[in-house]
Amino acid sequence: MNEYKELVEAAYAAREFAYTPYSEFRVGAALLGKNKKIYHGCNIENASYTPTNCAERTAFFKAVSEGQKEFTAIAIVGGHTQSDTSDYCAPCGVCRQVMREFCNPQDFKVILARGLEDYKVFTLEELFPMGFGPDDLKK
Ligand code: THU
Repeated sequence: MNEYKELVEAAYAAREFAYTPYSEFRVGAALLGKNKKIYHGCNIENASYTPTNCAERTAFFKAVSEGQKEFTAIAIVGGHTQSDTSDYCAPCGVCRQVMREFCNPQDFKVILARGLEDYKVFTLEELFPMGFGPDDLKK
Protein backbone atom coordinates (compact mmCIF):
# COMPACT_ATOMS: atom_id res chain seq x y z
CA MET A 1 0.00 0.00 0.00
CA ASN A 2 1.22 3.48 -0.81
CA GLU A 3 -1.11 5.57 1.30
CA TYR A 4 0.77 8.83 0.92
CA LYS A 5 1.77 8.65 -2.75
CA GLU A 6 -0.45 11.54 -3.84
CA LEU A 7 0.85 13.74 -1.04
CA VAL A 8 4.48 12.88 -1.83
CA GLU A 9 3.85 13.65 -5.51
CA ALA A 10 2.42 17.01 -4.48
CA ALA A 11 5.55 17.72 -2.40
CA TYR A 12 7.72 17.02 -5.46
CA ALA A 13 5.53 19.34 -7.55
CA ALA A 14 5.85 22.05 -4.88
CA ARG A 15 9.65 21.68 -4.88
CA GLU A 16 9.73 22.80 -8.53
CA PHE A 17 8.97 26.34 -7.36
CA ALA A 18 11.66 26.52 -4.66
CA TYR A 19 13.44 29.87 -4.79
CA THR A 20 16.94 29.07 -3.60
CA PRO A 21 19.60 31.23 -5.28
CA TYR A 22 21.79 31.15 -2.12
CA SER A 23 21.72 27.61 -0.76
CA GLU A 24 20.55 25.72 -3.86
CA PHE A 25 18.86 23.44 -1.32
CA ARG A 26 15.38 22.93 -2.71
CA VAL A 27 12.49 21.82 -0.51
CA GLY A 28 8.87 21.05 -1.29
CA ALA A 29 6.04 20.38 1.14
CA ALA A 30 2.45 19.24 0.70
CA LEU A 31 0.11 19.74 3.63
CA LEU A 32 -3.14 17.80 3.79
CA GLY A 33 -6.02 19.63 5.43
CA LYS A 34 -8.88 17.86 7.18
CA ASN A 35 -10.95 19.43 4.38
CA LYS A 36 -9.01 17.03 2.05
CA LYS A 37 -7.33 19.96 0.28
CA ILE A 38 -3.59 19.88 -0.36
CA TYR A 39 -1.62 23.06 0.34
CA HIS A 40 1.70 23.30 -1.50
CA GLY A 41 4.77 25.06 -0.14
CA CYS A 42 8.37 25.67 -1.23
CA ASN A 43 11.29 27.38 0.45
CA ILE A 44 11.71 31.02 -0.47
CA GLU A 45 15.11 32.54 0.20
CA ASN A 46 16.15 36.16 0.50
CA ALA A 47 19.32 38.20 -0.18
CA SER A 48 19.14 39.29 3.45
CA TYR A 49 19.11 35.57 4.47
CA THR A 50 17.01 35.72 7.68
CA PRO A 51 13.67 36.41 5.95
CA THR A 52 13.98 33.00 4.27
CA ASN A 53 10.86 30.88 4.70
CA CYS A 54 10.94 27.09 4.79
CA ALA A 55 8.71 25.02 2.53
CA GLU A 56 6.74 23.62 5.46
CA ARG A 57 5.90 27.02 6.88
CA THR A 58 4.97 28.33 3.45
CA ALA A 59 2.41 25.52 3.21
CA PHE A 60 1.05 26.13 6.72
CA PHE A 61 0.79 29.88 6.28
CA LYS A 62 -0.95 29.51 2.94
CA ALA A 63 -3.51 27.16 4.49
CA VAL A 64 -4.15 29.18 7.63
CA SER A 65 -4.42 32.39 5.62
CA GLU A 66 -7.16 30.71 3.61
CA GLY A 67 -9.07 29.66 6.72
CA GLN A 68 -7.86 26.06 7.12
CA LYS A 69 -6.47 25.27 10.57
CA GLU A 70 -6.90 21.50 10.87
CA PHE A 71 -4.51 19.07 9.26
CA THR A 72 -3.79 15.36 9.00
CA ALA A 73 -0.34 15.10 7.38
CA ILE A 74 2.54 16.84 5.62
CA ALA A 75 4.90 15.33 3.05
CA ILE A 76 8.38 16.85 2.71
CA VAL A 77 11.06 16.37 0.03
CA GLY A 78 14.32 18.25 -0.10
CA GLY A 79 17.94 18.25 -1.06
CA HIS A 80 20.71 20.15 -2.79
CA THR A 81 20.29 20.59 -6.54
CA GLN A 82 23.34 18.37 -7.06
CA SER A 83 22.20 15.46 -4.91
CA ASP A 84 18.49 16.05 -5.61
CA THR A 85 16.36 14.19 -3.03
CA SER A 86 18.67 11.27 -2.36
CA ASP A 87 18.23 11.65 1.42
CA TYR A 88 15.32 12.35 3.73
CA CYS A 89 14.85 16.03 4.61
CA ALA A 90 13.70 16.49 8.18
CA PRO A 91 11.85 19.68 9.15
CA CYS A 92 13.75 22.33 11.09
CA GLY A 93 12.89 23.14 14.70
CA VAL A 94 10.99 26.30 13.82
CA CYS A 95 8.75 24.39 11.40
CA ARG A 96 8.14 21.69 14.04
CA GLN A 97 7.00 24.43 16.41
CA VAL A 98 4.60 25.80 13.78
CA MET A 99 3.21 22.28 13.26
CA ARG A 100 2.72 22.01 17.03
CA GLU A 101 0.54 25.12 16.98
CA PHE A 102 -2.08 23.58 14.71
CA CYS A 103 -1.68 19.82 14.93
CA ASN A 104 -2.28 17.11 17.49
CA PRO A 105 1.19 15.62 18.07
CA GLN A 106 -0.14 12.07 18.45
CA ASP A 107 -2.22 12.14 15.25
CA PHE A 108 -0.42 14.42 12.80
CA LYS A 109 1.84 12.52 10.40
CA VAL A 110 5.10 13.84 8.95
CA ILE A 111 6.14 11.99 5.80
CA LEU A 112 9.79 12.30 4.79
CA ALA A 113 10.32 11.10 1.23
CA ARG A 114 13.33 10.52 -0.97
CA GLY A 115 11.32 8.98 -3.79
CA LEU A 116 7.69 8.47 -4.75
CA GLU A 117 7.71 5.01 -3.20
CA ASP A 118 10.42 5.60 -0.63
CA TYR A 119 9.29 7.43 2.47
CA LYS A 120 9.17 7.22 6.26
CA VAL A 121 6.21 8.23 8.37
CA PHE A 122 6.57 9.83 11.81
CA THR A 123 4.09 11.35 14.20
CA LEU A 124 4.78 14.93 15.19
CA GLU A 125 5.20 13.62 18.75
CA GLU A 126 8.15 11.50 17.60
CA LEU A 127 9.87 14.45 15.93
CA PHE A 128 8.96 17.03 18.56
CA PRO A 129 8.54 15.43 21.98
CA MET A 130 7.35 17.56 24.89
CA GLY A 131 6.86 20.58 22.66
CA PHE A 132 5.39 23.81 23.96
CA GLY A 133 1.92 24.33 22.58
CA PRO A 134 -1.25 26.42 22.85
CA ASP A 135 -2.50 24.56 25.96
CA ASP A 136 0.63 25.48 27.88
CA LEU A 137 -0.44 29.11 27.90
CA LYS A 138 -3.68 28.35 29.76
CA LYS A 139 -3.97 29.96 33.22
N1 THU B 1 14.64 24.38 4.49
C1 THU B 1 13.32 24.09 4.32
O1 THU B 1 12.63 24.70 3.49
N2 THU B 1 12.79 23.12 5.09
C2 THU B 1 13.48 22.32 5.94
O2 THU B 1 12.90 21.45 6.54
C3 THU B 1 14.93 22.52 6.11
C4 THU B 1 15.49 23.74 5.47
C5 THU B 1 15.25 25.39 3.60
C6 THU B 1 15.59 26.71 4.20
C7 THU B 1 16.68 27.19 3.26
O3 THU B 1 16.08 27.81 2.14
C8 THU B 1 17.36 25.92 2.79
O4 THU B 1 16.44 24.88 3.06
C9 THU B 1 18.69 25.64 3.46
O5 THU B 1 18.57 25.68 4.83
